[in-house]
Amino acid sequence: MNNIILCGFMGCGKSSIGRKLASRCEREFIDMDKYIEDKTGMTVAEIFAEKGESSFRETETEACRELSEKENLIIAAGGGTLTFPRNVEILRKGGKIIFIDVSYENLCERLKRDKRRPLLQVENREEVIKELLEKRLPLYKAAASVYVNGNFSSTRVANNILSIIR
Ligand code: S3P
Repeated sequence: MNNIILCGFMGCGKSSIGRKLASRCEREFIDMDKYIEDKTGMTVAEIFAEKGESSFRETETEACRELSEKENLIIAAGGGTLTFPRNVEILRKGGKIIFIDVSYENLCERLKRDKRRPLLQVENREEVIKELLEKRLPLYKAAASVYVNGNFSSTRVANNILSIIR
């Protein structure tokens, strides 16, 4: 209950904004990918490679269930989390979902050197980002009750979110 869930595409700043928000409002910060890695003892990349994406998605939904039982958290969801209606339903019951909206151009720039995210380890990264973003944007918007412009520094976005939630 009463959790703040940050939603948006990979590279939109969910984790760095979440950390700043948490320290400013003295709440606990949970990065969902890190939570899953601690729970399974595997990195997200290892889960994708060894067990497949659908196994990762099941673990992600379990994480949503567990975290939505807790209170006063700032949660950085994964970029795919809120594209699943089952996760939206669970997380919405536990708090407020905030969509961090970043332009395609800025996402490409921020993600161009990424070596960690399994979905982006492809030759045509910018095309993949474009396709995924087109599919996901309407889902993020439908999941969230608040949208913020994420095309600024994480401090500025965190301040904007603070002024909205206070
Ligand atoms: C994913 C985003 C990642 C991570 C996994 C899948 C996605 O999280 O959950 O690689 O489907 O967009 P970040 O958005 O924190 O990178």
